[in-house]
Amino acid sequence: MVRIGDPSLFIRKNTELLPSPLVPEIRLHVASDALPLWEMTEEELEQAGLPPPFWAFAWAGGQALARYILDHPNVVRGKRVLDFGAGSGLDGIAAAMSGAAFVLSADIDHFSGEAIRLNAEVNYVSLLVSTDDLVGQPNRGWDVVLVGDMCYEQPLAGRIESWLRGFAGAGVTVLIGDPGRTYLPKSGMELLATYNVETTRALEDNDVRRTNVWRLLKE
Ligand SMILES: C[S@@+](CC[C@H](N)C(=O)[O-])C[C@H]1O[C@@H](n2cnc3c(N)ncnc32)[C@H](O)[C@@H]1O
Repeated sequence: MVRIGDPSLFIRKNTELLPSPLVPEIRLHVASDALPLWEMTEEELEQAGLPPPFWAFAWAGGQALARYILDHPNVVRGKRVLDFGAGSGLDGIAAAMSGAAFVLSADIDHFSGEAIRLNAEVNYVSLLVSTDDLVGQPNRGWDVVLVGDMCYEQPLAGRIESWLRGFAGAGVTVLIGDPGRTYLPKSGMELLATYNVETTRALEDNDVRRTNVWRLLKE
């Protein structure tokens, strides 16, 4: 059984530094073979009350959103950006590279917090990390909120939709990257771009997922 111990050491020992398929400009500490890390950590993470290692993958929604940001830097340039549910930190890193004035990468998983710090460093960008649960909290001056692949689970998607709609209604640009997850809002969104994202069969049913970038409307 693997000892979890120091998150930074654990991440560096169990991942490889690889470019993301759709976003080769950004390298991340990711699991090159998805299953072993997932299985290896499952038992101990579960015992420790920790979630599975979402941070060890660049999810399809996050990759599409990062590609969109890098190709449309004006969306974030000079802006205050929140990367919500940041995982590996991919989208916040893309925003920082594209000239965002300030980036907060938020994920409630402490391992994710550490992965984001490591990934920001190897990509030479500066951002802040929060592991607080921000859902329901008022806008702290965000101009743009990035949401990469967060609609995979009903309770979570339900909690975040009305919170994010409130931001959209107040003029915040809320961008969602999503490969057709079940709990994506069914209406009140504007389609901005579509990408074919290389994925792994161990995580998804396919080698490629058609993935959209949406702007959430106030409804
Ligand atoms: C499927 S991953 C997506 C990660 C990344 N955005 C990407 O696209 O690669 C979903 C992430 O949401 C995080 N998460 C779940 N509930 C959250 C919450 N209430 N606040 C912040 N992050 C949350 C999980 O820890 C996980 O890292």
